[in-house]
Amino acid sequence: MATIVTLSSSPSAASRTDAVLGHVERRLRARGHEVQRVTVRDLPAEALLRADGSDPHIAAVVEAIVAADGVVVTTPVYKAAYTGLLKTLLDLLPQFALRGKTVLPVATGGSPAHVLAVDYALRPVLVSLGAEHVTQGWFVQSSEITVYADDAGVLLAESAARNLHLVTESFLTHLARHRTEPVSEADDDVVLRVSPGDDVAAPLLEDLVVEYGTRYGLSTPNTQLTEVPVSDFEGPHGAFIVIVRGGQTIAGGAIRRFDQETAEVKRVWTNSQFRRQGLARRVLLELERAAAGLGYKRIHLTTGPRQPEARALYLAAGYLPAFDLHADPESVGPHTFDKELPAGTLHVGGSAVASAPAYVAAASAGATTDSAPSFRDWGAA
Ligand SMILES: Cc1cc2nc3c(=O)[nH]c(=O)nc-3n(C[C@H](O)[C@H](O)[C@H](O)COP(=O)(O)O)c2cc1C
Repeated sequence: MATIVTLSSSPSAASRTDAVLGHVERRLRARGHEVQRVTVRDLPAEALLRADGSDPHIAAVVEAIVAADGVVVTTPVYKAAYTGLLKTLLDLLPQFALRGKTVLPVATGGSPAHVLAVDYALRPVLVSLGAEHVTQGWFVQSSEITVYADDAGVLLAESAARNLHLVTESFLTHLARHRTEPVSEADDDVVLRVSPGDDVAAPLLEDLVVEYGTRYGLSTPNTQLTEVPVSDFEGPHGAFIVIVRGGQTIAGGAIRRFDQETAEVKRVWTNSQFRRQGLARRVLLELERAAAGLGYKRIHLTTGPRQPEARALYLAAGYLPAFDLHADPESVGPHTFDKELPAGTLHVGGSAVASAPAYVAAASAGATTDSAPSFRDWGAA
């Protein structure tokens, strides 16, 4: 079963394009695929117009798209191109958001003169976003679509129905052939408890120095993990975890004691080659689990103003910001977040065993250079 995100991008609530999309979705579901529709007009307009990727609704949509195996992009033709509404969302996607994905473009339009809009307007931007296979798309003329009132059905002209069927089959064939298997990939990942001095932690520490040095203009290497006693990140007060895939350290992070009931997350990191796979979210969940296991009731962390990906990750993961989200990040200084650990924590003789957090690999893909430094720690405040 593949996960397929479908994009509805007509501004119109009574959309003919949505009627066509509903038909395609039915076929995808009938084949056993999981289909998740994103209706762009229902997203927060101000966030779209201001290209505010930190908005939690937008962040969740971007995450879903990045995690999907395939994407069906639909649009009515407006002014010989795709809609401005669709553009507002495409502009918020990371440069290679569609990397490795199979994409099916479908458009509706009033004039057969604009049948090529699918290929000259929509296809190039999808390819530029990294789509591996933009399969044969289709243009359905409005006159071929009869929509019945009150969502009571849609009738497509015979040729439109036949061709939509053909392009949907072709999309599914490509999807089956080229789909990466995120589940087995995640299954191959090994989560290890380590110490900052271990060799397996070295790639994480090295990359932290590069990333933070660049973002905050630091000349002195500082990992915030190796400058304090190693025991900070070991039991009974802390933990340091890495995720290893095929012998390579691809993500990691740490917790230490903040106060008796609170753990502090330090440095959630993903190797730049492996971002957008939900790894940072996974690290965070593993750290939350470790914190609960050590008896902590909440998590505290700070991240810096030049880590918008970290901010989006923590917001999406249910962390509450203790600062004004709308203020200029540079003026905020350290971005502090807190989260109560979920109920269900079982206390056993002073320590605790957490019920495992629900980790759905396919649903989380905000992996970036996510870290939890104190801005001041970098001497940049
Ligand atoms: C502002 C606007 C511009 C349009 N421009 C075109 C166009 O350039 N070419 C075309 O074939 N149809 C054009 N149309 C017609 C729509 O593409 C067509 O009616 C479509 O099926 C509407 O889909 P919807 O109901 O999902 O919004 C335009 C419609 C609107 C409202």
